[in-house]
Amino acid sequence: MNISVVGTGYVGLVTGVGLSEINHNVTCVDTNPQKVDLMSKGRSPIYEPGLEELMEKNIKLGRLRFTTEHKGAFNNSDVIYIAVGTPDNEDGTANLTYINQVIDVIANSITEDKIIVTKSTVPVGTNHLIMKKLNEKLPNHIKVEVVSNPEFLREGSAIEDIFHGDRIVIGADNQLASEIIREINKPYNIPIFETDIRSAEMIKYASNAFLATKISFINEIANICEKVEANVEEVALGMGMDSRVGNQFLRAGIGYGGSCFPKDTKALKKIAENVDYDFKLLSSVIEFNNRQQRKLLDQAINDFGTLKGKTVGILGVAFKPNTDDIREASSLVIIRDLIKMGAKVKVYDPVAIDNAKKELPIEVEYKNTALDAINNTDLVFILTEWDEFKSIPLECFTDSMLTPNVYDGRNCFDLENVKNSGINYCSIGRKY
Ligand code: UGA
Repeated sequence: MNISVVGTGYVGLVTGVGLSEINHNVTCVDTNPQKVDLMSKGRSPIYEPGLEELMEKNIKLGRLRFTTEHKGAFNNSDVIYIAVGTPDNEDGTANLTYINQVIDVIANSITEDKIIVTKSTVPVGTNHLIMKKLNEKLPNHIKVEVVSNPEFLREGSAIEDIFHGDRIVIGADNQLASEIIREINKPYNIPIFETDIRSAEMIKYASNAFLATKISFINEIANICEKVEANVEEVALGMGMDSRVGNQFLRAGIGYGGSCFPKDTKALKKIAENVDYDFKLLSSVIEFNNRQQRKLLDQAINDFGTLKGKTVGILGVAFKPNTDDIREASSLVIIRDLIKMGAKVKVYDPVAIDNAKKELPIEVEYKNTALDAINNTDLVFILTEWDEFKSIPLECFTDSMLTPNVYDGRNCFDLENVKNSGINYCSIGRKY
């Protein structure tokens, strides 16, 4: 099949590369010429393990190309995938500016019937709106069918997920369009769930909101564990052995971040509000997560009285390991507040420093190694569970910090080892 993918953010690029790897002829379209140049050379603008190797391979095989020219790409394609961003507006609703721009470009470009597949996460009803707007703008003899095909990839393991996901959801009103999208996806060999458009749109929001709730649930259990001297890791293991609970997304920590959970939970709350439904459970998940992101900072303020004038080391700014994405990361909340309080902050992350420099206050100092960030500090916060941090010998903290106070927001170390190390250690849901 000839396919074009509009938008080469994380979802669009991975989708395009995945489709080319299963033998489709893919053209990725983006308005940014520098980005298109970079990607045409097989270089990825985002850090995603395994992505560049697949880009290089499929570019070489002639199955993957990048362009700024929408018209040519669309007219050479049987199917157009929309994968532009839907960031949140101030009020939490999804911002559809980029979707609307794509609708206009498609309406001004295509000269024959097309199937449009929406990968972007959009509020329930948006795919019908896209179809209506397009069919109104296009000349009478050209028709489009819109299919909702939400994305379930995780950053940092997107390549693994695209070839080994649990399901592919296809929401369509038109049987033929649904069959064509099913055929396109067949080589992935992943169970396909076909449904109506609105249910497909809802599946995406409900899945992300459910996972965010699961994380908040285990984080609340962790907070109680600390008080009753239970260990949340043991609790999560025991709970996860029940297949009805499932053992994933039960890692307690300093809250979820990233470009999806915070945005999609707020958007779903708004979707409910718009139909006069007060989604109380989700509202408290969102509020609780905001508090949990600050949990260790509040603990440290409590322990020290004030953090003014303290030298603080930060290990990890990415919202999770194996990505350079820092959007809505707990680290941003903590670092900004530390600077406001008058602390001296030294930051290290294996890949997210460039992005951090664009977002964080200028007072922040950046270090090239974890050890440099730890050295001569009064306290250290571990905010991303990079493998590199888990393998730091504990003597590094006791030998190089002024006083070894470690606040571990991702439970990177075994409690028994830490107990004999001389570190003042605070982690999540585990009584020290
Ligand atoms: C999430 C979903 O997992 C994907 O299925 C979905 O496609 C994607 O959003 C999206 O909507 O595009 P992602 O945000 O990349 O993927 O990363 P996750 O692995 O889900 O992690 C999100 C946050 O939850 C991270 O901050 C992570 O540290 C936190 N988390 C995750 C926990 O605190 N505990 C856990 O057990 C799991």
